[in-house]
Amino acid sequence: MQPSKCFLLFALVLALAGGATSAPLGAQDQTASGVQKPTPAQAPVAPTGNAQKGQQLFTSYGCYQCHGREGQGSTATGPRLAPRPLPFAALTRYVRQPSGQMPPYTSRVVPDTDLADIYAFLQSRPQPPAVDSIPLLKQ
Ligand code: HEC
Repeated sequence: MQPSKCFLLFALVLALAGGATSAPLGAQDQTASGVQKPTPAQAPVAPTGNAQKGQQLFTSYGCYQCHGREGQGSTATGPRLAPRPLPFAALTRYVRQPSGQMPPYTSRVVPDTDLADIYAFLQSRPQPPAVDSIPLLKQ
């Protein structure tokens, strides 16, 4: 696909998802016009979730089947989600209205409070070690 078409498709997906208003992703649209507007300081509300409960939910809702038990992802089934998931608003939007292979989860199936717990779980996963700290990679 040509890059310009790809961008249009992406913009359309964002618009359909209602993303233009609150999306951190949507903020990048401004650069297309050449005008650099400062990103509004509306950090997505950091939900206060329970990471332990989130781990159970990540399993019981079946997220782990595609994204791995640690949210580590797999090239075959689903992308990495942890330890730095998308901003909460974007993550929620994607789970509710995915645009690719992933099945949608409505708020009736997975309430926002459960997503907040899952989010806390994803964020609680350990960071990978710095590349510099792995001797084998320095040779
Ligand atoms: C059947 C496999 C499958 C299941 C189950 C699944 N996902 Fe996904 N998920 C995917 C795939 C594949 C993608 C990549 C985009 C696409 O094709 O939709 C994705 C993308 C995502 C993304 C966007 C990641 C990014 O960086 O853009 C999030 C967030 C996400 N999934 C969260 C979840 C959560 C939370 C659950 C459980 C409630 C879940 N997924 C269950 C397959 C799955």
